[in-house]
Amino acid sequence: MKHIIIDCDPGHDDALAILTAIAHAEKLRILGITTIGGNQTLEKVTTNAKNILEFVQAEIPLATGQKGPLTKELRIAPEAHGDSGMDGPYFNGEHYPIASDNAVLFMYEKIRACTQKVILVGLGPLTNIALLIKVFPEIRNKIEYISIMGGGLERGNTTALAEFNIYVDPEAAEIVFNSDIPIVMSGLDVTEQAEITVAEINGLKNKGRVSHLAYELLHFYNLSGRQFGFINSPIHDLCAIAFLIDPRMFSGTSYHVDVITEGKARGLTYADKRLAAVGKQNTFVLEQVNRKEFVHLLTDALAYLDALSPIDRENKH
Ligand code: BDR
Ligand code: CA
Repeated sequence: MKHIIIDCDPGHDDALAILTAIAHAEKLRILGITTIGGNQTLEKVTTNAKNILEFVQAEIPLATGQKGPLTKELRIAPEAHGDSGMDGPYFNGEHYPIASDNAVLFMYEKIRACTQKVILVGLGPLTNIALLIKVFPEIRNKIEYISIMGGGLERGNTTALAEFNIYVDPEAAEIVFNSDIPIVMSGLDVTEQAEITVAEINGLKNKGRVSHLAYELLHFYNLSGRQFGFINSPIHDLCAIAFLIDPRMFSGTSYHVDVITEGKARGLTYADKRLAAVGKQNTFVLEQVNRKEFVHLLTDALAYLDALSPIDRENKH
């Protein structure tokens, strides 16, 4: 059993990652979910997290984190995720409880109380996780590794060189990559292969209560992705969870990875591929994913949740 904490900024792909993790309770024990300002303001991404958790009647403690990056202003992504940060479905989950308004302390206490090492999952800017490492450095011994969606060795999506989560808070990412905690990096190199097709999205429509929710999320996300040249939709954040459930669907290489914080390359993650870096690898960089297995992992998880919560959609909407 893997004990995990998910730090996120839902976000369509964050939401699908959370749902898939919840469906795999036989492999993942979710100790808590923490939010971070990213795709939208902290307030909006927290509302989105509440809505998703309420929708599946989860009982996972939810804590709110930092409003924005360590040193700069928050840059949000309404062009990808809409004004709410998770446009598409109608929700009414505003009653889901907030366990703490201090995500850093919350993570620290959860990790300390856990009888085994914990895996952190970072699906947004790495601000909360960087603060955890800075404020409580001794906690590093209890973190097995950090599975992050962020970066990309060959491409960016927010600038030519930088991926969104790293670009929003490169200073935080630099702390995390230099923390001596092993990292598994789902960067754009792999996440842009992790696409769901339009036909697969349409196959979720009216399939079940949770599958239909995913359809509504993906329908919006697919249309917004068109402006960036995507026909299908890369479900970036799900890679960081899928790796924990079924790592065999991925392949990758260990590198020493670091982050550029200044100039035109601000937010770039780069790998030191020199012979001199052998033995200094800090990151397992995912490079390939079996797309079909990846999509099946999602659709099977949604079908499982459909069967668990057979409440008629119409009663809720
Ligand atoms: C990342 O940026 C966000 O918009 C997504 O939720 C994902 O975490 C992809 O670059
Ligand atoms: Ca995200």
